[in-house]
Amino acid sequence: MTEPPNGPDIAAGDAKSTGADKYIGELSSIEEIAAAVRSCTRCGLVGTRINAVPGEGSDSPSILFIGEGPGANEDEQGRPFVGRAGKLLDELLGVVPLLRSDVHITNVVKCRPPGNRDPLPEEVRACRPYLEAQIGLLKPYVIATLGRHAMNRFLPNARISDQHGRATVWRDIVIFPLYHPAAALRSTTLRQTLENDIRQLPEAVLQSLEMSATRSQASSGTDGSVPAGTTSPAPTESSVEDETDQDRLF
Ligand code: URA
Ligand code: SF4
Repeated sequence: MTEPPNGPDIAAGDAKSTGADKYIGELSSIEEIAAAVRSCTRCGLVGTRINAVPGEGSDSPSILFIGEGPGANEDEQGRPFVGRAGKLLDELLGVVPLLRSDVHITNVVKCRPPGNRDPLPEEVRACRPYLEAQIGLLKPYVIATLGRHAMNRFLPNARISDQHGRATVWRDIVIFPLYHPAAALRSTTLRQTLENDIRQLPEAVLQSLEMSATRSQASSGTDGSVPAGTTSPAPTESSVEDETDQDRLF
């Protein structure tokens, strides 16, 4: 599988990983990760949080939503997306229709940055092993990023205005960037765009399922195809919008 056009692996920089990162990588359930997050002291946000917010939802979701970081309501309740932005997210999921319990929802950083400032690079770095471990255990077909910051964890140089509602393959998972619901609360145009993009999520899941079926066929070797790991994601011809970019699905 080739790399996404504009994204190194999220684990790039692992040269710096510590024994603690390894410990997080060995946690064997979502509940264990959540417990580790709740008692985490790996970055300065521990000093200002009320509650860490590990995430919640299905343990085998087809879609993992990733926001930026908890806000005031989330910090108070220890749950992701429970404020106004969260209500809008629930409403838009209902359009698909999807329930919160069908999907999993988490954030790039699990503790609230004071005053809702952007998380600092060292906070994102400290929290990254939890997100890695969650992705590894949840194995979603689609990661729907909410807002620019979450998107940039996977596609570092991408612009949300270009990438929203478009599917890109990252490590056998489809990344589907969405505008942040908080931005959609401030603009009716963005709200409509977010709704239109969210309506595309089932198609993104389908594309990801097709990709994984192609991979397992290739690895079983019954059809004479090349072994897994050496193939491109093989999207259907009609779904390839830009022939020069084989990782873009739609
Ligand atoms: N905004 C986020 O990015 N995450 C939350 O959990 C809530 C609001
Ligand atoms: Fe730990 Fe992440 Fe919270 Fe920092 S933001 S204290 S790394 S859980």
